[in-house]
Amino acid sequence: MHSNSLHKKIKILLVEDEKVTHRSISKALERHGYDCVGVYNLQDALNTIKQQPFDLILSDVILPDGTGIDFLEEVRKYLFSVPFVVLTASGKKSLMQKALANGASDFLTKPFNLENLPTIIERNLERRRLEDYKNSKKRTSMLFKTIQALITALEAKDSYTSGHSRRVARYALMMAEALKLTEHEKFILELSAILHDIGKIGMPDSILKKSTSLLDMEYKTAKEHTIIGSNIVGKIDELHEVAAIIRHHHERFDGTGYPDSLKGEAIPYFSRILAIVDAYESIVSDRVYSKQKSPETALEELTSNAGTQFDPVLVNIFAELIRNTSIRERQNNAS
Ligand SMILES: [Fe+2]
Repeated sequence: MHSNSLHKKIKILLVEDEKVTHRSISKALERHGYDCVGVYNLQDALNTIKQQPFDLILSDVILPDGTGIDFLEEVRKYLFSVPFVVLTASGKKSLMQKALANGASDFLTKPFNLENLPTIIERNLERRRLEDYKNSKKRTSMLFKTIQALITALEAKDSYTSGHSRRVARYALMMAEALKLTEHEKFILELSAILHDIGKIGMPDSILKKSTSLLDMEYKTAKEHTIIGSNIVGKIDELHEVAAIIRHHHERFDGTGYPDSLKGEAIPYFSRILAIVDAYESIVSDRVYSKQKSPETALEELTSNAGTQFDPVLVNIFAELIRNTSIRERQNNAS
């Protein structure tokens, strides 16, 4: 049995009108652990792909009510990347060229050895996976660039915060390494770090740039950036985790933070990380309301608030991390 049978079965649509060939191919597919749905003409093929998704399509060229090339053309209109393997009896060059031009992934010339089917199928699935991976990387990098542009616009309003989100994200990623987070978790944490103050986009400059302490009303407005930011990001379904993390990045471990006064482990894990790296970055940079301080002083401030403002375990991990990094940097500079 094929190894794929251990996992979710790969689903293949077989379009072949010749009964004996149809039967032998579908039997071979099942034997190798694939899930096979078989149809005998173009019309049924068209109806079937509208009803259910397939991982791969195997289609004959000559069908009683049309051709496999017609089918391929229809498939490519909305199933852009599903592998489409053309079964041909002739291997006619012009036909193969037409199929390729329409996005065929591979050819199988009949008669073929049924034992070769898994190799052909896996080769095409693998190619598809690689393409999907490349595309998702491209999309991710585009997403980050777009978001970065947005944040740059936000931070341009205030020279003191310029680069803040990017630096917070860098510290967040150091924590991600130390905590051995998965790639997906890193992605979520980095995105949350970059976007954590996005809610300030609607804040009046009079509050953002104020150097004296804020009035009660102003403070109330400033606090709302957590909710506004979370609502903005929450509009994107795929980012609901990020939205929750942003909402709670000003909660305090002892339950006296905002906006929901969450306490301890009720605060999302990544919000607890963000609270630490955000505070650290603010202390070591020049801000409107305070001069920059040394990493040592910043870490002292952070650890003295372990258990009250910050998650004590995480804050110690972070302090350790910064101390080790600065030792390493000093060593590098010395050598
Ligand atoms: Fe914030």
